[in-house]
Amino acid sequence: MDKQLLSRTAAAMVARGKGILAADESSGTCETRFKTVRADCTEQNRRAYRGLLFGTPGVEQFLSGVILFDETIRQKSDDGTPFPQYLAKKGIIPGIKVDKGVVDIPLSPGEKITEGLDGLSKRLEEYFQMGARFAKWRAVITIGEAIPTHTCLYANAHALARYAAACQAASIVPMIEPEVLLNGSHTIERCEEVTEACLRATYAALAAHNVSFEHLILKTSMVVSGKECPRQAGVDEVAERTVRALKRTVPAAQPGVVFLSGGQSDVAATAHLNAMAAMKNLPWPLTFSYSRALQNPALAAWRGQPGNVGAAQSAFHHRAQMNGLAAQGKWKPELEKQAA
Ligand code: 13P
Repeated sequence: MDKQLLSRTAAAMVARGKGILAADESSGTCETRFKTVRADCTEQNRRAYRGLLFGTPGVEQFLSGVILFDETIRQKSDDGTPFPQYLAKKGIIPGIKVDKGVVDIPLSPGEKITEGLDGLSKRLEEYFQMGARFAKWRAVITIGEAIPTHTCLYANAHALARYAAACQAASIVPMIEPEVLLNGSHTIERCEEVTEACLRATYAALAAHNVSFEHLILKTSMVVSGKECPRQAGVDEVAERTVRALKRTVPAAQPGVVFLSGGQSDVAATAHLNAMAAMKNLPWPLTFSYSRALQNPALAAWRGQPGNVGAAQSAFHHRAQMNGLAAQGKWKPELEKQAA
């Protein structure tokens, strides 16, 4: 465990004005996303699409890191450079998704547990050799009638802690992602309560597994109203409740917190981050680690056509820039109109 390397990596991941691109969609998720723009989900097309994102001129000003999928970390850019080295040359830290997705929890209807612990240490060694310096594991928490249960919160916290310990032992920064899903008709109050319970369970498990708080990054969902809830909370309320839940549960020793977008609109994800980052005296830097909220306009512009690469890169550059400003509390809605 190289603590200096872990500290350097974690600090660089949350450097001021920068955030992280999540480009670690599994091939199944990619297929769903590509279908929306009628692009064929072949290995070559996935490589071409990721390559256009990574190769966007100037995007390194706003990106500290990229989360790769196992297939992508083994692919090369057009000039034949393996993607991890290609990113590192641009000053972007390569990361890797190491979980193997979710399955149903037996005897806990409607709840999920994340798999991927078997053989994880060996895989981390290989990923480190390939250049990965941080690794993501996503746990999924669903809000519904009588769920999440204690069983679900603790099973997921335990898995997150075991993965985080394995990462730190391999000198790879764990990016711990317990995602409370947006889906459902629950209120924002309920979301806040569940987010707090989830984070509390997660940090208790991390401590029990000797995970060092100084050498990890939390990737969390925001506290928002359920997608089908009749009362949709505004930007300030989302920001206040999210920061309150984090302050109650996340140790100040931690180098930073990043957010997932979770199905929020592109601009809502930016506005929420901006409102939080503008708050005074936060114990940690806050920034983005979005997939959909960074990629949606780029994917829509690309549509699988090589002739659209330039338009897709402009769209991606714009969202990365807007979120880079939001991470400093310097974004304004007018900036979106100027670009349109
Ligand atoms: P979204 O920003 O699309 O939620 O994706 C982030 C992520 O990494 C999910 O695991």
